Amino acid sequence: MAPGSTQTLLGRKIVLGVSGSIAAYKAVGLLRLLMREGADVSVVMTEAATRFVGPLTFEVLSRRPVATDLFAARQEMLHLTLPEWADAVVIAPATANQIAKYALGLADDLLSALVLNTSCPLILAPAMDGNMWDHPAVTAHREALRQRGVTVLEPEEGPLASGRVGKGRLPDDTVILSAIEQRLFPRLDWRGQRLLVSAGPTQEAIDPVRFISNRSSGKMGYALAQAARERGAEVTLVSGPTALTVPPGIHYVPVCTAEEMDKALTAHFAWSTVLIMAAAVADFRPAQASSTKLKKRKEALNKLDLEPTPDILERLSLRRTSQTLVGFAAETEAVLPQAKDKLVRKGLDLIVGNNVLAEGSGFGSDTNEAVLVDREGGVTELGLLPKRVLADRILDVISTLPCAIKRSAAAKKPPAAGNKN
Ligand code: PMT
Repeated sequence: MAPGSTQTLLGRKIVLGVSGSIAAYKAVGLLRLLMREGADVSVVMTEAATRFVGPLTFEVLSRRPVATDLFAARQEMLHLTLPEWADAVVIAPATANQIAKYALGLADDLLSALVLNTSCPLILAPAMDGNMWDHPAVTAHREALRQRGVTVLEPEEGPLASGRVGKGRLPDDTVILSAIEQRLFPRLDWRGQRLLVSAGPTQEAIDPVRFISNRSSGKMGYALAQAARERGAEVTLVSGPTALTVPPGIHYVPVCTAEEMDKALTAHFAWSTVLIMAAAVADFRPAQASSTKLKKRKEALNKLDLEPTPDILERLSLRRTSQTLVGFAAETEAVLPQAKDKLVRKGLDLIVGNNVLAEGSGFGSDTNEAVLVDREGGVTELGLLPKRVLADRILDVISTLPCAIKRSAAAKKPPAAGNKN
């Protein structure tokens, strides 16, 4: 067994489709990861993909011939036989063009014809320029595919081949692997749980056009909501303003201020079995928001009176019946002692400390580096991980907390107030 591998895909047959994006070279790393996990991988490339990476690279590493042409070996009819052979079909990178073809049912090359014949789990890992990802046509195509049960992963944000910065980078290998695992072996270990999760920033008005806020993008909280939903939980997501798409099957409650977040969470708290506070709630707000736009006069800008916002987590902790309470600690130094202090002060079962100054960690990034501390003093250090992968690790740890196990019986009871989903 390769070092670090848990052979989760041992004996599984995977078709890896590679389409024509500069990210095609990253599919080589993905192939190696799938092979390390024990999968038998057959690679299919579009003609455009072969311009970025030679088929020989994939052929040598997969130890299988690479198919590129719908007409090359007509008698083999690979567009029919490969999807029948496969346990899962993964397209990485999936270009806007390929995604459009799958959405419309076009089949003018081997890969799109193969996808049209696929009845096993289909996972698309898109890569394209940010403007293309945001285009209404691409948005409509990916939503149509999701409606049909296709897993379409969200691309990562960061520097793109165009030189711009945006959302369009191929998701990390580990995110693709975990999506494949979730489709092949759906874990429903959170079934029966009702997760209340907060995400994003709050906005505290100074006047009708200005507000105090912070750098939270909501990615950490949304990743937790999505992971729990996929693992069978009912999920209510209370979110401050973000640019994110709400994952399917989630009861979404949009809020703006700390006060609104407090009200929404308090209203759903009795329903929940687990609360995770990933939101970056403003600690202070203007004592008096002006009802008209403040003028640019010197005296108006000199001073802003602030008052503390309610500590939502601390308040809910006092109202808890059987809920498991999980908080986050956003720190810039001494993460572990400060996280431990917040765990005790706020009466939590678990706290996720993250250093928001560390490279690739904290606000806005697709990755996060976290240390988990439970009330029994157990410490779990997790290295830098994609937030979607970290979300699963956090859920794993919550499931093993002694308090969560004790309370899981209560979790099976029907809710007092119904979820809208
Ligand atoms: O949204 P992303 O861009 O993905 O970034 C993720 C994140 C950095 C926001 C997230 O990982 C994180 O650390 N969230 C908590 C941010 C925070 O407010 O931390 P804190 O240490 O200030 O607060 C401690 C805990 O108390 C948090 O769970 C917070 O939600 C809660 N809190 C804070 C203030 C307040 N008035 N009420 C609260 O309930």
